[in-house]
Amino acid sequence: MNELAGKHIVLGVTGGIAAYKAAELLRLLKKAGAVVDVVLTQGGAHFVTAVTFQALSGRPVWSDLWDARMADNMAHIDLSRQADAILVAPASADFLAKLAQGRADDLLTTLCLARPRKAVDGRECPLLVAPAMNRQMWEHPATRRNVALLAQDGTVLLGPACGEQACGEVGEGRMLEPEELLEDLLAYFQPRILAGRKLVLTAGPTFEAIDPVRGITNSSSGKMGYALARAAAQAGAEVVLVSGPVSLPAPRGVRRVDVTSALEMRAAVFAEMMDAVIFISVAAVADYRPAAASEHKIKKQGGDITLTLTPNPDILAEVASLPNGPFCVGFAAESRNLAEYAEGKRRAKRLPLVVGNLVQDGLGGDSNVVTLFDEVGSHPLPPGPKQEVARAIVAHIARMMG
Ligand code: C5P
Repeated sequence: MNELAGKHIVLGVTGGIAAYKAAELLRLLKKAGAVVDVVLTQGGAHFVTAVTFQALSGRPVWSDLWDARMADNMAHIDLSRQADAILVAPASADFLAKLAQGRADDLLTTLCLARPRKAVDGRECPLLVAPAMNRQMWEHPATRRNVALLAQDGTVLLGPACGEQACGEVGEGRMLEPEELLEDLLAYFQPRILAGRKLVLTAGPTFEAIDPVRGITNSSSGKMGYALARAAAQAGAEVVLVSGPVSLPAPRGVRRVDVTSALEMRAAVFAEMMDAVIFISVAAVADYRPAAASEHKIKKQGGDITLTLTPNPDILAEVASLPNGPFCVGFAAESRNLAEYAEGKRRAKRLPLVVGNLVQDGLGGDSNVVTLFDEVGSHPLPPGPKQEVARAIVAHIARMMG
C-alpha cells in the first residue's frame, strides 16, 4: 500500500555503523511510495557509499554544500523547501551536538537549520532524528543536554532502542529498526484525533477446545482488527489489542494480549476496562463452545459422535451494558441483508456504531467494503485497502465522540 504516495522525504545519513540500515530504510520509504532525496555526510560515506543510495533512491545523492549540480547552488534551501519531512537515520552524537547548537558546517546541518518552521512562515517541515551510538555516548551528560535542547526546539526523536550494540556492549543507543522508523514516520503524518484515549479492541477468531488437539473456531484472518489497532495507535490512542490466534505481528505501539477461547477473551477485555473509553469488537467470537472439553484426545470410533455446545458470553453486549462504559463499536459480517442485520445488531446490543460488511467483500483479503451504521443512518465508506478503511472508521469514531 502506497502510504507515503505524494510525500517527498529527505533522508539524512550520518556517520555511524547503523548507516547500513539506512539503505533498507530507503527501500521501505520508496516501497511506501515516497520520493526520497538522500543527504549523506562525510562520516556517513565512510560506512556506505553514495552509489548504494543513488541506486536505491533512483536520484542523485547530495553530500556537498557547494554542489554545482543545483542550478542556484542552494541545495540546502531547495531540498528543505521540497521536503514533507527530514528524517535523519542514523543520527550520530556529533550530528545531534551540531544540531543542538544550530551549527551549519555541512549540507545536512545547514538544510536542517533552513527547514521551514511553523513559527516563521506557517508551514512546517518536520525534522525527525533516529539517534544511534554507543550507550556511554548516549548516556553522557553532554548528549543528554543536546537531546533536551533538540526536543525543546521541536525536533522529534525516534528511539533509540535498548539492546546489543555493534561494539559488543549492551544498552540504550541502538537505532530503531527500519520497519519501526517507517511506522513512526507514517504515524507522524496522521492526525492525532484519538490522543490520550485508551482503546481496547478484540480481533481474530476464538478457538474453543473439544479435546487437547481439536477445537471449533471461526474463519477470521484478524487483518481488519489489526489494521484498526494500527490506525488507532497512529491516531494517538493507547491501544490494547486482545487477540485470538492469528499469524500477524502486533502493530507498532500497540499492547497485545494473546488469548485463545471466548472466556479468555472476555476476562482479558474486562481486565482492561477500567480506564478504557473506546471498545471495538472486531473478533469473530465463537457463539458456542463444547460444554466440557475432553481431558484426553477423543479416539475415533465408528458412527456419529455428539458434541454438546453451550453458548459463549456476548462480550460486546456485556461491555455495552456497563454503567459509564466505553464508546462501543461492533462488527457485523453478513452474507446477505446487511443493512437490516447490522442495524438490528446495533439496536439489540445498544451500540452507537456498527461496522457492517458482506463476507464475500472482506474476509481474509487485504481490502474491504464496509458501511457504517449509527443513529443518524448508514454511511457507506469508499472500498479500499483495510488500512485505509480502518483510518476512515477511526475518523468516524473520533467525530462521533467529539
Ligand atoms: O450478532 P453477533 O453476536 O455476531 O454480533 C457481532 C458483534 O458482536 C461483533 O462485533 C463481535 O465481535 C461481537 N461478539 C462478541 N461476543 C460474542 C459474539 C459476538 O463480542 N460472543
